[in-house]
Amino acid sequence: SFEQSLRPLTLKQYIGQTKVKENLEIFIEAAKIRQETLDHVLLYGPPGLGKTTLATIIANEMGVNIRTTAGPAIERPGDLAAILTALEPGDILFIDEIHRLPRAIEEVLYPAMEDFCLDIVIGKGATARSVRLDLPPFTLVGATTRAGSLSAPLRDRFGVLSRLEYYKEDQLMDIVLRTAEVFQVEITKDAALEIAKRSRGTPRIANRLLRRVRDFAQVKGNGMIDLSLADHSLQLLQVDPLGLDHIDHKLLKGIIEKFRGGPVGLDTIAATIGEESHTIEDVYEPYLLQIGFIQRTPRGRIVTNLVYQHFQMEVPTE
Ligand code: ADE
Repeated sequence: SFEQSLRPLTLKQYIGQTKVKENLEIFIEAAKIRQETLDHVLLYGPPGLGKTTLATIIANEMGVNIRTTAGPAIERPGDLAAILTALEPGDILFIDEIHRLPRAIEEVLYPAMEDFCLDIVIGKGATARSVRLDLPPFTLVGATTRAGSLSAPLRDRFGVLSRLEYYKEDQLMDIVLRTAEVFQVEITKDAALEIAKRSRGTPRIANRLLRRVRDFAQVKGNGMIDLSLADHSLQLLQVDPLGLDHIDHKLLKGIIEKFRGGPVGLDTIAATIGEESHTIEDVYEPYLLQIGFIQRTPRGRIVTNLVYQHFQMEVPTE
């Protein structure tokens, strides 16, 4: 069948992240040859680069089920016990945002990861006792935007640590072309490249922009996406030539206009522009750091001359 899903289902279909992919291919193959479960895998890097997609692919390639949860969803040891005891041998447990797992839960996870067993306390006070439950062997796939926020003991229990990186323009273009095929919308190569250039190295953004551009093509055009339609639509979407959006602009201009370009603390910026510090730190800042628009100093964030140039503002002299 020509049915293709938006998310790639195999490593072969997965575009980019070559190093991560090549390594995983070997570890998966080796585990299959030995008929063992795959070692625990930690995927880290900025949001939207394909951590969930990779977890799904790993399960698919191993031929096992995947159970998905997220750090903040597991509040008590019992929540984790319920999930772990329901797994079948070899299954993948995917924990997204694993850095947000409560510390008390982390401690339950250690023996589960290391020895596939669970020590749980039943009852309270004088009658409390501990029981040890055996678990089916499983693979934990953890995903996080901040590997640095994981406790060292948790990080050390992963056998595979894979860092996802921002995608190159040609890889994003291939992703846009692939998604357009899934959507059955016609797009020219230069239009796909234009969307790629404005996607901040991030497939999730590329696919979102493609959806919106497709809307313009269907309503305002003839259904076909060419460069001029893509360019015009992206302007209307307030996505600038570097892919920076309204919030990036607010952030950068806020630092320039209210704090003379910095240095300014993260929480101060957050309060000024009305966004969460965590959102700025995890979602907006990584790409701005990557393209050299902001720098972190011990006294806070500063914008670089590139920002003044981008906004065609005069670079301040001191
Ligand atoms: N869709 C989103 N991310 C993708 C990737 N890395 N490869 C192929 N299709 C994708």
